[in-house]
Amino acid sequence: MRLEQTLNMGHKARMAKSKTFSCSACNASFSKWAGRCEGCGEWNSLSQTAALSAGPGKKSLGNSRGSTIVLSDLATNETPPPRTLCGVAELDRVLGGGLVSGSAILVGGDPGIGKSTLLLQAAAQFARTGVKTIYISGEESTAQIRMRARRLDLSQAPVQLAAETNLRDILTTLEAEKPQLVIIDSIQTMWVDNIDSAPGSVSQVRAAAHELTNFAKRNNISIIMVGHVTKDGQIAGPRIIEHMVDTVLYFEGERGHHFRILRAVKNRFGPADEIGVFEMTGRGLAEVTNPSALFLSERGEASPGSVVFAGIEGSRPVLVEMQALVAPSPHSQARRTVVGWDGGRLAMILAVLESRCGIPFAGLDVYLNVAGGMKISEPAADLAVAAALLSAREDTALPADTVIFGEISLSGALRPAPQTENRLKEAQKLGFTAAIAPSGGKSVSIKGIGLRRVTDLTGFVGDFFGAG
Ligand code: TYD
Ligand code: MG
Repeated sequence: MRLEQTLNMGHKARMAKSKTFSCSACNASFSKWAGRCEGCGEWNSLSQTAALSAGPGKKSLGNSRGSTIVLSDLATNETPPPRTLCGVAELDRVLGGGLVSGSAILVGGDPGIGKSTLLLQAAAQFARTGVKTIYISGEESTAQIRMRARRLDLSQAPVQLAAETNLRDILTTLEAEKPQLVIIDSIQTMWVDNIDSAPGSVSQVRAAAHELTNFAKRNNISIIMVGHVTKDGQIAGPRIIEHMVDTVLYFEGERGHHFRILRAVKNRFGPADEIGVFEMTGRGLAEVTNPSALFLSERGEASPGSVVFAGIEGSRPVLVEMQALVAPSPHSQARRTVVGWDGGRLAMILAVLESRCGIPFAGLDVYLNVAGGMKISEPAADLAVAAALLSAREDTALPADTVIFGEISLSGALRPAPQTENRLKEAQKLGFTAAIAPSGGKSVSIKGIGLRRVTDLTGFVGDFFGAG
C-alpha cells in the first residue's frame, strides 16, 4: 500500500471518531470523556468540542508554490528590546528587568487573589513614568475601578479606563489611541464576534488571546492579560494561552495570609522562576523587599518539627520555615498531608528515611506545612523536610539558630545545592549562626555562620537525633 493511501485511511479513521473532548484548563484533548483530565489533573474540566473538521487537514498543500523565505545566521547585530522600569522593584524583577515593548504577558491567579489590584497599581506606576497606559476591564464597571483607584490613592495617575468586552471595538480603539501599555482584565470576559461560543470558552479565550498577542507584535505595544485560574470546567483556564504569550506570571497566595507571590513561570525576555513578594494591605499591595524576614516573622522559640530552610527563589535567597507534625494514626491508612510542597516528594523522603535509615513512619500521620503559605519546589528543600519530619517524630527541637538545605537522593546520599554562598549570606543577614548542608561542591565560608557538612542522611540522623 502506498504511503498516501495509508495516510488517507488514518484520516478517515480519525474522522469516524467524531467526538473529542478537550480540557478547559490545559487544552489537552481526548477521545473519551473522563471526570479528571489526564493531562493536568484538573477535575471536571473536560467538555465536548466540535468534531475534527474535514477541512484543512484533508488536503495536502498540493503542488502550488509559495515564495521563498529569507534565512539569516545567528550573528546579527540586533540591539536588545527596550525596557521600561515601573519603579516597583518586585514587579520589574519578575518581568526580567522591566517591561519589554511589544510583549504579551499573561498574569494568572485564583479569583480574588489581587490581580486587578496589582495591575491597576502597575498601570498607574507605568503611566506615571510616562508610558501611555489603557486599562480595559470586562469584569467591573469604570465606577468600580475608580473606587479601587481611590482606595489605592491612585486617582491622579494618568491611566485611561474603559469597561468593555467586545474585542473588535477594543482593538479599533487601541489602533486609534496608540497606547504603549494595555491591561486586559480578564481574557475570559473578552468576546470575539466571529466565534459563536460564549465568552470564557476555550475557543473564545484562545481567539481573543491570539488577536491581542498579534496586535501587540504588530503595533509594538505591551499587553498584559489577566487570566483566572478556574476550578470547574465552565470557563477556560489561563493555561491554554500560555504558549502564545511571551511571559507568564502567576500570582499566588493563600487566603488568610496577607502576602502574595508573583512568580514568572515562562519568560522569553528574562529568567523564569523569578519571584516578587507583595503584602496585601488595606491600601493595596505593598512591596516586600526582605521576604525572609516576613516568612520567619511568626516563628517562635525552637520547637519540635520546625526547621528553617535556606532556599533560592529565582535569583535571590529566601528563608522559610518548614513545619512537620507526626502523630500516631487513628486510621487504618495513615494520612500524608502537604501544604506548599510536593506530595510525591514527601512520599520519597519518607521512603528513604524508612529504607536507608531504618526509621519507619508506618502507622503515623504526617503533616507538612511550609509556613506562611509559600510554595517550594526546589529539591534542596529535601534535607530541611527530612529534618522537620525527624524532629517532629523524635519530639526533639533543632537549634533555632540553624538553617538547613540539601537534596536527598534515593540512595540516602546528599547532593550539594547550588548557590550555597547566597543561602548562607541570607542566613547570616537574618541572624542565624549555623547551617547544615551537604558536603561536596565548592568550599564556602561565611563569617558568623558555623557550617556543618554532612555526606548522607544516615550520618545526619546519627549526628542530630542520636543513633539512626
Ligand atoms: P482583586 O484585585 O479584585 O482580585 P482579583 O482581580 O484577582 O480577583 O482583589 C481582591 C481582594 O483584595 C479583595 O478580597 C479585597 C482585597 N483588597 C485589599 O485587601 N486591599 C486593597 O487595597 C484592595 C484594592 C483589595
Ligand atoms: Mg479582578
